[in-house]
Amino acid sequence: MLKFRKQKRIKSWSVQRPRTREDFNKWYSENNDDPWGYKNYKIQSRLNESLDFILNYLPQDFSGNIIEIGAFRGDFSILLCNKYKNAKIYINDISDIALKYAKEKTSSFNNVSYFMKDLLKISIDDIDDNSKDTVLILLECIYYLSNEEREIALKNLRRSFPNASIFISAPMSGGVYFLEYQFLYMMKNCGYRLNGIKVLNLKKLSFLRTILKPVANRSKKVREKVARQVIFYFT
Ligand SMILES: C[S@@+](CC[C@H](N)C(=O)[O-])C[C@H]1O[C@@H](n2cnc3c(N)ncnc32)[C@H](O)[C@@H]1O
Repeated sequence: MLKFRKQKRIKSWSVQRPRTREDFNKWYSENNDDPWGYKNYKIQSRLNESLDFILNYLPQDFSGNIIEIGAFRGDFSILLCNKYKNAKIYINDISDIALKYAKEKTSSFNNVSYFMKDLLKISIDDIDDNSKDTVLILLECIYYLSNEEREIALKNLRRSFPNASIFISAPMSGGVYFLEYQFLYMMKNCGYRLNGIKVLNLKKLSFLRTILKPVANRSKKVREKVARQVIFYFT
């Protein structure tokens, strides 16, 4: 029954995906404020894997700005807050329902601010001190924009934060998401230089995970065949 409901939901959004604040808020209200089921170990494992990847490039004593875009209910924000105690962390989402939970989850940290905004419109005005280094984190949110908007948003971010590095993840499974070569072309076109890649999870063959993931991290050909969500680091 649960599986059927999930399939039905995914089917309806593949025709008409949520885009605006109102769409997301309505979707959340109709699905217990958590349509993806964030308690699922697969999601938590993806978030932990994403943090491990970020830690390879961003030292724990980083004291600049971290802007987490599309934070949803703050499950990744709390991991960031626990690791980056010297940074100023900005938590963003298009939905006030999502942001309310993110706020509750991270309320004990005093280095955090929140702002509700469409990522298409995020700019330098959203941060207090733009003289510091800035890092942008966009996990699993860019694909809610249309194809044209994705490029506009990424170019805006590059213009607003020209020196910011960016961690970004998405499924590389085609369809409404991306194919890796298209994604890399888009990023290059928006002025970003690729510095690192990590496969977060696989489409199928999960029993071969331990063997396949390291191979997929190194080989584009293998990644194209087996990878689902992938995280990238660009400067
Ligand atoms: C699949 S969730 C990902 C949450 C989290 N980043 C993660 O990786 O688990 C997508 C989130 O992006 C937010 N979002 C979607 N479109 C957005 C936009 N245009 N601007 C800001 N946030 C957006 C949604 O409200 C949702 O919270």
